[in-house]
Amino acid sequence: MDKQKWNPAQYAEQAHFVSELGAPVVDLLAPRPGERILDLGCGDGVLTKEMHDAGCRVVGVDASPEMVAAAISKGVDARVVDGHELQFESEFDAVFSNAALHWMTHPGLVLNGVYRALKPGGRFVGEFGGYGNVATIRRALDEALTARGIDATPFNPWFFPRAEEYRLLLERYGFEPLTVQAFARPTPLPNDVTGWLETFAQSFINGLPQEKRKRFVVEVVERCRPALCDGDGRWVADYVRLRFAATKSSRANLTLKPTGSSAGAPEPAA
Ligand code: BEZ
Repeated sequence: MDKQKWNPAQYAEQAHFVSELGAPVVDLLAPRPGERILDLGCGDGVLTKEMHDAGCRVVGVDASPEMVAAAISKGVDARVVDGHELQFESEFDAVFSNAALHWMTHPGLVLNGVYRALKPGGRFVGEFGGYGNVATIRRALDEALTARGIDATPFNPWFFPRAEEYRLLLERYGFEPLTVQAFARPTPLPNDVTGWLETFAQSFINGLPQEKRKRFVVEVVERCRPALCDGDGRWVADYVRLRFAATKSSRANLTLKPTGSSAGAPEPAA
């Protein structure tokens, strides 16, 4: 599977709504001046900067060097780190994450790293794609690949758990969930879904030879049109968010048990 490539200019054009719609997640975090905060999957750093400007000592991490460079250019501390490989030790008052955790498909590794990064009692607050997120787009991608004799399963780069599944994961990895809620958030797109696909669905598109990709995208757009485009040509993507807040609890009584779902499959403990 080709690695997703991030282009900050394309992201700013096609996905500026991501940080704009992240404001309620920052509100849920309620960052206080002087707090040390880790922004996990900081992308181009728009929200990192917001928390920085509010007086927090923020470190942004993201797996994409291009997005980290864009974040640094905004004047924040940002580093290239894969969210599965966090190496911080008891240094943050809070870990924040907006629209990033669905790209991290081994949640146990991520949660272990977040747990280690937090000070005792620290907060973990975030939002990402929940079960059924972008279901129309996913179905269209699946069907268009299947029509070409290709199984889409190995190209799926996303982790979209149910609220109950994520609550169990949080508990299993040492957190006390305060809230874990899934909700539909229909999301207007700046153009038709072409830009969204080219920005976010590269792993499916790149499953095809270069010369077949353009036609594939056109077909996926047409498969999405009846459900996502209204009579006036306005496109709205069928986002489902999973919003949560948890605190780091003592791990003294923690027993690691498989939860029965793939996302909860045993992963190395810290
Ligand atoms: C999301 O924010 O839910 C999302 C964005 C891009 C791809 C998949 C999901």
